[in-house]
Amino acid sequence: MPALVLLGAQWGDEGKGKATDLLGGSVDYVVRYQGGNNAGHTVVVGDQKYALHLLPSGILSPGCTPVIGNGVVVDPSVLLSELSGLNERGVDTSKLLLSGNAHIITPYNVTVDKVTERFLGKRKIGTTGRGIGPTYADKINRVGIRVQDLYDESILTQKVEAALDVKNQILTKLYNRRAIAVDQVVEELLDYAEKLRPYVADTVLVINEALENDKVVLFEGGQGTLLDIDHGTYPFVTSSNPTAGGACTGAGVGPTKISRVIGILKAYTTRVGAGPFPTELFDEDGEALRRIGGERGVTTGRDRRCGWFDAVIARYATRVNGLTDFFLTKLDVLTGWEQIPVCVAYEIDGKRVEELPYSQSDFHHAKPVYEMLPGWSEDISKAKSFSDLPKNAQAYVKALEEMSGAPISAIGVGPGRDETIEINSFL
Ligand code: GDP
Ligand code: IMO
Ligand code: MG
Repeated sequence: MPALVLLGAQWGDEGKGKATDLLGGSVDYVVRYQGGNNAGHTVVVGDQKYALHLLPSGILSPGCTPVIGNGVVVDPSVLLSELSGLNERGVDTSKLLLSGNAHIITPYNVTVDKVTERFLGKRKIGTTGRGIGPTYADKINRVGIRVQDLYDESILTQKVEAALDVKNQILTKLYNRRAIAVDQVVEELLDYAEKLRPYVADTVLVINEALENDKVVLFEGGQGTLLDIDHGTYPFVTSSNPTAGGACTGAGVGPTKISRVIGILKAYTTRVGAGPFPTELFDEDGEALRRIGGERGVTTGRDRRCGWFDAVIARYATRVNGLTDFFLTKLDVLTGWEQIPVCVAYEIDGKRVEELPYSQSDFHHAKPVYEMLPGWSEDISKAKSFSDLPKNAQAYVKALEEMSGAPISAIGVGPGRDETIEINSFL
């Protein structure tokens, strides 16, 4: 019963889509367990580029069954347009399974996300504006709408009424917006019901039966460890648990079933939206990482903030996720620097600190302590094995592995499926 979790070890956009797609050919199921269409996962197959938001990256591998688990929040209009977009490109999406317990991102959740951010002004989180936070808030407040509610009009109407009761007061009285009509929302949601019906399933049962039958299941995280609502840089986080435990609750599998937890780790660091980022660069090096790495958001088109590799964060990700392996991505982007700084510790109020400080104020004051590693100038994008890499690139990888606390089992040297060096097999 091999069950693997694949998740972001930093602030998202580490290359999870590419890594999942790479394994998609050898696994039976790929399951998204949290987040929603705030995610933007890029997969490059030959000369084709796909940007996936809600669909698990396994959808591009014909033998693999993609599953949207109960922990995901689903915007039906986005899901349906993603499906039709792939169908137009000849991708068969008929195997998709959607949990009846997944929560629906309603149009009013999207409105609340946008007006809340506007209201926060300078203190905003910089969300993707996709209604993620308000939908998870409704779930926790027990006024959420689930996929299964779309199939009972009376229950759906009652639930939308209950949710809008308070929201309309807030929208009209606090934010000076128009109230949202219950009938209009119900009508829109009912329209999605029949289109989604073929995919709706008891995904918890399907996944657990698959594991009992020795099928290989891969759980694909969205976002990343430092965006986790519990373990990330709160409040500058997303509203779900991308960390490994989220795979258990967001898919309905017990922790005893998980055999491997793979952290996707970029060879440098990026972040989108607001919040602390100790190794952030505001100079030409940051501009160069952005340009060479193509660091622009897949979902919102925002420029990503860029900085050097932060080993304190990588060590933290190893700990909170119980990582068994790392998949190091975008090593090729670092080609050309004479020396590459790596953050090995922080200085906080004049003291050297080796681990991520638990206090938010301390983290806001953390200054990176850098060690300089020698760079390389050779093109590494064609490297197929570790020994093909220049000596300094090998030493960079080994140094990162040592500092981060788990073996690096694969290295990305380009966006394509085959631009990968496999060191240890994941399966
Ligand atoms: P995700 O959200 O974690 O799936 O990552 P994104 O797709 O948002 O961002 C990662 C970007 O890096 C995408 O444009 C990928 O095509 C690209 N990418 C992934 N791995 C590599 C790599 O090893 N080298 C290079 N140059 N690009 C990569
Ligand atoms: P993938 O899966 C990078 C960030 C947003 C914002 C914060 C909260 O592609 O790695 P939200 O809309 O989730 O309430 O926004 O989280 N964020 C991401 N940053 N990659 C992502 O996804 C992200 N999903 C959300 O920029 O700072
Ligand atoms: Mg992304």
